[in-house]
Amino acid sequence: MTLILGIESSCDETAASIVRNGNEVLSNIVASQDDLHVAFGGVVPEIASRAHLERILPVITQTLEKADVPLDALDAIAVGNRPGLIGSLLVGVASAKTLAWMLDKPLISVDHVLAHLWAPNLNDAHDVNDLNDVHDATISYPALGLVVSGGHTSLLLLQDANTAICLGKTIDDAAGEAFDKASSILGLGWPGGARIDTAASKGNPIHQLPRPKTKGTRPDFSFSGLKTALLYGVRGNPTRKDGQTVFPRDASSLSEQDVFDWASSFQEAAVDSIMNGVRHALGDNQVRCIIAGGGVLANTLLRKQLVATAEGCNIPIHLPDFNYCVDNAAMIAGLGYHLYESGHRDQLDITASPKGIAS
Ligand code: KG4
Ligand code: ZN
Repeated sequence: MTLILGIESSCDETAASIVRNGNEVLSNIVASQDDLHVAFGGVVPEIASRAHLERILPVITQTLEKADVPLDALDAIAVGNRPGLIGSLLVGVASAKTLAWMLDKPLISVDHVLAHLWAPNLNDAHDVNDLNDVHDATISYPALGLVVSGGHTSLLLLQDANTAICLGKTIDDAAGEAFDKASSILGLGWPGGARIDTAASKGNPIHQLPRPKTKGTRPDFSFSGLKTALLYGVRGNPTRKDGQTVFPRDASSLSEQDVFDWASSFQEAAVDSIMNGVRHALGDNQVRCIIAGGGVLANTLLRKQLVATAEGCNIPIHLPDFNYCVDNAAMIAGLGYHLYESGHRDQLDITASPKGIAS
């Protein structure tokens, strides 16, 4: 039996988790900072790192208590050290190094984006046959990995859980960021992904919005044109007055049904853009399955379309359970387990990096 403590602090979630043998999650504590950033409509890096400092020790203590695991029973400490906001990452990295040094346990650094693709292994992953069916995901490689979150939108070709090349990524906004901005344009608030999802379920995709294509032959993504098209569609074409951009109307002039229809139109366009990239990558590469992860995987339409595409290609798809889509430390501990078993060890001089496998 191998027990790994995972620590995650790459953006605005302070998280710690204990995972047994890479897939049994004994505890998974996530302290969200949404309330601290909501007034700014996005994550403020300086506020995020200060909040991590306040929360990291209580979160680690709570995860140990919940799992009922004493510190000396741990086999290793895994930490997400890349990519992410540097001030935020450093808090998790410093905590992990301190614990590893104090307990004389191995320290393992993990790429956050690859860790999102470990998430389907945790507890109750879902398979292509039944979205509600609980099963033990056995992932075969090579695999196509899709990570769509607030900070990342990447397609990866994986040879194993920790060996990958980046096939494509966003050239501007991340998919989750686009959902968040769309929600704010429609006056639905932040964070926006789940709000757009709910609003879209009550609307119809009656508005034509672009599915931006990137230049070149890679399956890259672009969401900024879609976001601007939504802004102009909702608020009208702007003019310049006294050096200011002035819109003819704002979202408050929309009826509730108008908001639902715009949300639905945006969601269709955003999901189509993601799926175009996935189909492109599947056309170029022979893979044995699709693995997907990241906060945007909580999106109902995207999950359905990914499942349908995998079915069409006759390959399995591995999707995380909803609570492992968003940032969490169980995925860090899980991939940490894979690295631990492969003999990987890091030294106490590791540091944090804003760049990872897909950036
Ligand atoms: O993976 P995550 O916690 O953050 C990063 O690693 O960056 O993902 C958070 C993102 C947010 O942008 C949020 O709006 C989006 O995931 N999200 C969704 C849904 N639920 C969360 N996007 C679309 N539909 C959803 N249901
Ligand atoms: Zn993430």
